[in-house]
Formats: sequence, structure tokens, C-alpha cells
Amino acid sequence: MVFAAVRFLHIIAGIVWAGGAILMNLVVGPAIGATGDTGRQFAGHLMTKTRFTGMMMGSGVATVLAGTYLYGVDSNWFSSGWMMSGQGIGFGIGAAAGIVALVFGFMIGNTNGALAALGAQIQGKPTDEQMAEMARLRKRQVFVTSANTIFIIISIAMMASARFLG
Ligand code: HEM
Repeated sequence: MVFAAVRFLHIIAGIVWAGGAILMNLVVGPAIGATGDTGRQFAGHLMTKTRFTGMMMGSGVATVLAGTYLYGVDSNWFSSGWMMSGQGIGFGIGAAAGIVALVFGFMIGNTNGALAALGAQIQGKPTDEQMAEMARLRKRQVFVTSANTIFIIISIAMMASARFLG
């Protein structure tokens, strides 16, 4: 019963988290980047005045905690041969990819915060250092966003297929 409830929570939280991240990284983020000042105003509102950030953090952490419990039960707390079965390896790869994706998710939040702080600091024409810092942060944002998307896709692909791996 507890297992079924945690599995239910895991799947709902996983859908909210992975769906939100993929849509944000591949559709909404690029739309924000392409719409200049309007996009910046929208992004500021989205990140600080809506539930978006809290929902992404909450569902990401809930997915990983619930998933760790499921893996613990399935593997008899990391001691059974299940871990070396096709299924165990499949869920293990999906779990590891999900945890890595969560770390990159936190890094996206940090980078967005640093970009917003730098944006607020710039009065009029940016200095050379501010331009260089902006370029560095934008590069990091592209990297962490791409990594987050790739690891989330690996995680959902493994979650969706692991039970058929024998
Ligand atoms: C990317 C987000 C994730 C999504 C959308 C997701 C989704 C799912 C789904 C739909 C299942 C049911 C699969 C089936 O019964 O065939 C499942 C099972 C499972 N997930 Fe995830 N998952 C995610 C991340 C994770 C993470 C990060 C972990 C571990 C830390 C994990 C551990 C597990 C385990 C162990 C099972 C097997 C449960 C069982 O025996 O029924 N998942 N997941």
C-alpha cells in the first residue's frame, strides 16, 4: 500500500517535473530569449511571482526522493540481485540520469539568479567586465539547460522501458 502510494506520487511528480522542464527548455526559454525586453519582463514575472520555480523544485525533489524509496524497496535496500537484472540496470540508469538532471536543474536556477542580479546592476551602458560576465553566464546557461534536457530525456526513456528489459 505504501509502495503503491509512493509510486503514484513518483509518477505524478515525475510528469510535472519532466514535462515542465522540457517545455521550458525547448519552447518557453527560447521564446523569452527571442522577445527582448518583453521577454525579460515575462521571465521576471514567471520566475519570481508565479508558482513555476516552486513547482519545479518541489516536483523534482519529490520525484527523486520517491524514486529512491522505490529503488530501495525493489532492491531490498541495495542488496538484492535485482540491481543486476535488466530491469534493475534500466531503472538504475534512469534513476542516476534523473538525479544528475535535478542537479543541473538547480544550476539553471542559480545561473538565472546571477543573470538577473547582473542585469539589475547594469545602469546604462555595460562595462567591459559586465559584458564579459554576461557572456560567461549566458554560455553556462546554454550548457546547464542542454544537460538538464538530455538527462531528463534519458531518465524518462529508461523509466518508460526498464520493466521490459528482463
Ligand atoms: C525524470 C523523471 C521521472 C519520471 C517521469 C519517472 C517515471 C516513472 C514511471 C512512469 C514509472 C513506472 C514504470 C513501470 O512500472 O514500468 C517509474 C518507476 C520507477 N522509478 Fe521513476 N521516473 C523518473 C525519475 C526517477 C528517479 C530520479 C528515480 C530514482 C532516484 C526513479 C526510480 C524509479 C523506480 C525504482 C521505479 C520502479 C518502481 C516499481 O517497481 O514499480 N525514477 N518511474
